[in-house]
Amino acid sequence: MDLEKRALKVLEGNKKEGYSPNLQRSYFYIAPDPIHHHQWFWDSCFHIIVMSQFRPEWAWRELASLLSVQQADGFIPHLIFWKWRILDFLPFFWWWKRERHPRIKFITAEIQPPVIGLALEAIHQADHKTADLFPILLKVEQYFNYLKKKRDPDRDGLISIITPMESGMDFAPQFDIPLDVIDHSPRRLKQKINRMLEVYHRLEWKLEEIFPLAIFDFEDVGFNTIHALSLEALGRIWKGVDAKKARGYEEEYQRVRDTIIEKMWDEEDGIFYGCYHREGKEIPVRIKTISSLLPITLDLPKRYVTRLIDHITDEEEFWLPYPIPSVAKNEKAFGPLTNTRRIWRGTTWINTNWFIAKGLLRHGEIELYQRLKRKTLDLIERFGFCEFYDPFDGHPGRAERNFSWSTLAVIL
Ligand code: GLC
Repeated sequence: MDLEKRALKVLEGNKKEGYSPNLQRSYFYIAPDPIHHHQWFWDSCFHIIVMSQFRPEWAWRELASLLSVQQADGFIPHLIFWKWRILDFLPFFWWWKRERHPRIKFITAEIQPPVIGLALEAIHQADHKTADLFPILLKVEQYFNYLKKKRDPDRDGLISIITPMESGMDFAPQFDIPLDVIDHSPRRLKQKINRMLEVYHRLEWKLEEIFPLAIFDFEDVGFNTIHALSLEALGRIWKGVDAKKARGYEEEYQRVRDTIIEKMWDEEDGIFYGCYHREGKEIPVRIKTISSLLPITLDLPKRYVTRLIDHITDEEEFWLPYPIPSVAKNEKAFGPLTNTRRIWRGTTWINTNWFIAKGLLRHGEIELYQRLKRKTLDLIERFGFCEFYDPFDGHPGRAERNFSWSTLAVIL
């Protein structure tokens, strides 16, 4: 069976559709995999990007389900529980109880990387339904206004996340430091996160109480890069609708991009680092992860691109037999721990490869792009569409199989 057909089979297999007794409306979405059966924000955006090429109708419907739970202040949750399963009530799955929104039981109180601008552009390009687009653009605008108003407490143009899960890269080692896990033990990180969630739960997830505590106020490179990319994409979509708005988005994109360079670039290491807030100070976390490389997707001046490529192609860092690992090999915190669920500590993921591939294309690095694409497709050929892979031998270990966003490989 060709790759495209296999990808569609995975998406079809994870398709959920019906009426939600929880939220009392119809839903349609693709679950991440057969085990994680709820709707996740950035997973949905990736599915929409793939499906807009093969099943635009599904892409529109998944987007509609996602936007249907948007709150009055523009917030869209990282997770929607359309329907409970018995499994959700087993102790192992109880984490959702602490992350649950204080007023609406069927969504979480967190956000995830704002890939939604890119998702909207993908559907728009594949299937021009301009009449339907306007209300959606307004909803998405509200969402970005929410990020700007509520998630940038120091008003520097960079969005702060309040839990590692909001980065989409749950146990990535750049989060060890703000949580004082100096020995990089992923077990201790998990414990610290759990304790933090308990505090947030008690505070009913009120941002005005959470931010002043500065338990975890992190400006992540990946999250902010994706924010910039979405603003840029929205600017392109608005062009056909309202030129003034389009210019506004374009200018905002440039502002965010420039702030990422100004605040996150580390000249000595030649890479981008996120930072956390503690006692009124901003402290960079100098750990090289996949997040540090994501700004290659932006229109950066050449000298930054060259230095990022030096890291990508360095066999001691990111160019492993199956690139690109989520953490550089020569970092103390490098896992990759494929046989645990301590994710994002060195395994290779298809969604981040998709971003880096886009960046390489943007900067005309065709040869490296081709090499990365071949390696990525090789992983899929050998092991199928998995959640993550070992960067040395490709084995997925305890990764979920038939993982929906890994179908991005088909549109690399
Ligand atoms: C894990 C990943 C996150 C993803 C979720 C569902 O929590 O870290 O990025 O959205 O699983 O696939």
